[in-house]
Amino acid sequence: MSKPRILVTRQVFPEIIDLLSRHFEVEANPDDALWSQAELAQRLADKDGAFTTGSHRVDAALLAACPRLKIVANMAVGYNNFDVDAMSAAGVQGTNTPDVLTETTADFGFALLMATARRMAEAEHYLRAGLWKSWRYDMFAGGEVHGSTLGILGMGRIGQGIARRGAHGFGMQVIYHNRSRLAPELEAECRARYVSKDELLAQADHLVLVLPYTSESHHAIGAPELARMKPTATLVNIARGGIVDDAALAAALKERRIAAAGLDVFEGEPAVHPGLLEVPNVVLTPHIASATVATRLAMARLAADNLIAFFDGRGPLTPVNT
Ligand code: DGY
Repeated sequence: MSKPRILVTRQVFPEIIDLLSRHFEVEANPDDALWSQAELAQRLADKDGAFTTGSHRVDAALLAACPRLKIVANMAVGYNNFDVDAMSAAGVQGTNTPDVLTETTADFGFALLMATARRMAEAEHYLRAGLWKSWRYDMFAGGEVHGSTLGILGMGRIGQGIARRGAHGFGMQVIYHNRSRLAPELEAECRARYVSKDELLAQADHLVLVLPYTSESHHAIGAPELARMKPTATLVNIARGGIVDDAALAAALKERRIAAAGLDVFEGEPAVHPGLLEVPNVVLTPHIASATVATRLAMARLAADNLIAFFDGRGPLTPVNT
């Protein structure tokens, strides 16, 4: 019997291509070119499955061009690049990679919070530019982290990881807002208190966004929300671009209506709003919150295992539509 045909849409670890090749006939992206949607559709037209990243949309137009397609395995926990309803209507299974990146991503969220509050990027640029001439009492004086109030918007696994780091490691008062409240034992373990979104905005010294990107969370942080934050507050986004209105944020940072921001994700990335590139009080990183070698390998392995389990008839391991 012939093996199922799989398209790997971006470059991944060679050992993952080897693993997939033991089970499937694989077409891999040799040079990591970012294929257009049209080229993707053409390459997928004769495939049974796809190994994707967030770089491509899987929507009705693509699915209509790929009649053999049965499964798309995303190497990411976020799957806002999937039109899940269109996939379900076309009978196409979608999978993601939860859990394996939780702690690594929470580490990064906390690192970005600290770098932002303590103005590390600004200070490094100053030093590299040869501007450091002497000690000054207020040189790069930032906001306090320990003992401050940590606000978390979106309290899934990664949000809980950040809450634990803040509460247990840095003695922070943790408040959160989420669609649904955590079970009391989980709230106790995270030492986190549920508040309304308005209270979260008004009380947080550091606000970390960890919610999924959906039509409801589009611009969850825009000009009105930024206006409710403390002028000394920092905002950290490790979730998805589009949750923050980047133009409104750039204006708020420029006018110092909030103190600083740390951003790993952007509206329309890899493009970055020019206003964000102009202000000094923002730390910018290129969507790397899950980027440790071990975690990226675990994510790729889980995406591959989803394809293998699906075509073995065992069913997908981490489905997003059932
Ligand atoms: C994820 O897993 O969703 C990360 O943001 C990488 O895309």
